[in-house]
Formats: sequence, C-alpha cells, structure tokens
Amino acid sequence: MSKISPAGKVKSKKEKVKSMSNRFRFAFLLLTFALLTGCGVRADMQDQPRYKAYKQSDFFSDHKGSRDPVEGTVARGQLHDNKAFYTGKIDNPNLNAPVATAVDAKGNTVIASFPNDIDEFPVPVTKELIDRGQERFNIYCIVCHGPVGNGDGMIVRRGFPAPPTYHDDRLRNAPVGHFFDVISNGWGKMNAYAYQVQPADRWAIAAYIRALQVSQNPEEHLKMNSKTESNTAPPKKDETKNVSTNGGKR
Ligand code: HEC
Repeated sequence: MSKISPAGKVKSKKEKVKSMSNRFRFAFLLLTFALLTGCGVRADMQDQPRYKAYKQSDFFSDHKGSRDPVEGTVARGQLHDNKAFYTGKIDNPNLNAPVATAVDAKGNTVIASFPNDIDEFPVPVTKELIDRGQERFNIYCIVCHGPVGNGDGMIVRRGFPAPPTYHDDRLRNAPVGHFFDVISNGWGKMNAYAYQVQPADRWAIAAYIRALQVSQNPEEHLKMNSKTESNTAPPKKDETKNVSTNGGKR
C-alpha cells in the first residue's frame, strides 16, 4: 500500500526509500554525537582521589588505607551475647583448662572429659527441633556418620576415614555442648560445619543425635548426660517412630 503525501501526491517507491535512509542517517549522526560527548567528558566520582580496600596509605600512621572498626563495634545481628547458645561452652574461666587428647586405633581423636561443654540444651527440645535436626543431619552428616550414626556412611564405605560410632559410652555420656562444638569447629579429621549449619540448626542436629542414641540403646537411656526432660525421660512408643533408621526416607 502507498502513503498519500501531504501534497496529496502518492509517493513513489524510490522516494519512500530515500526518505527512510535520510532518517537513518540522522539517527546515526545523533548517536555518534551522543557517544562522543558522553564518553570523552567524565568528571564524576570515578576520578576522585580515593583508597581501594587494603591499599597502603601515607596519611594514617599505621599505613593502612582501611580503618579498623571502633573497638566494641558489633555488626548488626552479631552480638552473640548468649555464650551457651553460640559456643556450647560454660562461661567459667576456671574451667577453660586444656584437655588431654588421645588417638585411638582408627586414628580418631578421643577425649572422654568435657569440662567446658554445657550438658543442657540452651533451647527447648521439641519434636519440631528433632525433626529439623533429622533433616539437617541427613543433609550434612549422614554421608559419613551413616543413617543411625554408626560411622558407616557412604563416603566412609568409599574410603574416607571412619568416624567413631555415636553409640559407645564415651559419646553417649558426652555433654550436648560437645556435639555443638564438633559441628562448629570440626574435630580431628572432620571439617567444621559452621558455615553450612547455623547455630540453631546445630542444636537441632545435637538433639537428633541424642534421639539416635536413644534409638540404638533404648534400655540405657538414663546414661545420657542431659538434664533436659525430653532427653532423660524414656522415649514414648510413638516418639521413637520419628527416629529415622532408613537413610532419611520419611
Ligand atoms: C566427610 C565426613 C564427615 C562428615 C560429613 C561429618 N563428619 Fe563427623 N566425623 C568424621 C570423622 C572422620 C570423625 C572422627 C574425627 C577424628 O576423631 O579425627 C568425626 C567425628 C565426629 C564426632 C565425634 C567427636 C568425638 O568426640 O570423637 C561427632 C559428634 C561428629 N563427628 C558429628 C558430626 C555431625 C553432627 C556432622 C554433620 C553436621 C558430621 N559429623 C559430619 C567425619 C565426618
């Protein structure tokens, strides 16, 4: 279809192509102008004198470009004043004595006394907590420790050093703070899981490990060194059903 020009004339095909190419030429010139003026003249914050992080400085006496935060500065949400919850340790300087370690036949680091670890959960132990712990355990720990904590996980069957079972007297009597500590800081050959597992989830996993310990030695539950009611009480029939011994399938 042809357009009618303002003069009422029908534009020929040739005329139409010409007017279009003129339009393109104008747009191109405009673009070139914009680019030339835009790129060439920069007088913004890009060019101001400033320090790059960790660069040296002659201005400050310590020659560091980056300033240390004022003493006592706490990042938002990082106060962590609840020592028991964030470390699993007792706030008692007299107890912070170094503990003698031994290495067993498997090459694992064995400690049987835990004077600095708390033996009560700093959070209420609920079914939700244990369920959450089961879920987290099956994501992060099952691969080495196995579905019930015997230390026979899939990675171990493929050659990773075997961890100790959770079900010997030493670990059944270990305070809950010890489990929190192992997850937070690692233990011997085991890596720390502080980055993957947040403090609340570490307590959830510790609670689930307690549940596993009860599940494997239901008659000896009283040996468990936790004052939290739900752990010293004999497991009720329907509670034990929640303890997974089938590799995490619900
Ligand atoms: C890559 C394998 C691996 C994974 C994953 C792993 N562990 Fe371990 N864990 C080990 C090994 C190996 C040891 C023995 C380390 C040693 O004594 O040198 C161990 C030891 C332990 C101990 C016993 C500490 C003691 O006093 O002897 C606990 C408790 C424990 N792990 C809990 C966990 C929990 C909870 C998780 C999940 C958050 C986890 N582990 C994930 C390999 C693993």
